[in-house]
Amino acid sequence: MNLSIPAKNKLIFALDVPNRKEAESYVRLLGNTVGCFKVGLELFVKEGPDVLKVVKQNSSASIFLDLKLHDIPATVGSALRSAATHGVRFITVHGSDGGSALKTATEVKGLGLEVLAVTVLTSVSESQLGGLGYKEGLSLRQLVLDRANIAKESGCAGVVCAGEEVSLIKKECSNDFKAVVPGIRPAWAEIEKDDQSRIVTPKEAILNGADLIVVGRPIRDAKDPGEAASKIVEEIELALTA
Ligand code: C5P
Repeated sequence: MNLSIPAKNKLIFALDVPNRKEAESYVRLLGNTVGCFKVGLELFVKEGPDVLKVVKQNSSASIFLDLKLHDIPATVGSALRSAATHGVRFITVHGSDGGSALKTATEVKGLGLEVLAVTVLTSVSESQLGGLGYKEGLSLRQLVLDRANIAKESGCAGVVCAGEEVSLIKKECSNDFKAVVPGIRPAWAEIEKDDQSRIVTPKEAILNGADLIVVGRPIRDAKDPGEAASKIVEEIELALTA
């Protein structure tokens, strides 16, 4: 199957697997179908930075190191400089500290590492905000938008946000400020005990202006993960030409 490169480059597969062996089999299977592999906490904590070689040795896809750093600015800055030595393209920092840690993004500018701020996790719903201590009446959309603005001012390359928030963020922060969208659920996907809350289809995310989408379980747990990834790339392609 001939998959379009612009569409393929918008798909990030989340390597949410427990070990290097499983990671390698997904990278080999999907290396020509997705543009980027996301290495998250589960795999990185188990295998360490060496696991990044699995992606580099078996595909030409880029790497998104999703560590969601959340610490004092000095520590986050040091972690970003360490990450820059691993040859990864994206890294995530939590965007909830008002910007002081996010400003360390400027320290790795020019080193090829793009810092993305996590606005509000896509597993969090509007009804949970009150219980998390946020003032009554604050909408989740406004919280995401405020954090996106801070991330932009702090020198981040973009944000991780839900699909329904992309167009507003692009309008406020500029079109070249990247919006990376997890919480993707193709219409055909059936996820057991799903923990995602703010979900959209690949088509909806792209039509809203997402630069990249992150897909994990809909591909990982599909009967045929290769076919599932190709179907998503085709859906992206259709949305791009719509
Ligand atoms: O399996 P699923 O498609 O829900 O995977 C989504 C991936 O995106 C997970 O690896 C998760 O850690 C990540 N993520 C997220 N929400 C964010 C940031 C990252 O779901 N705000």
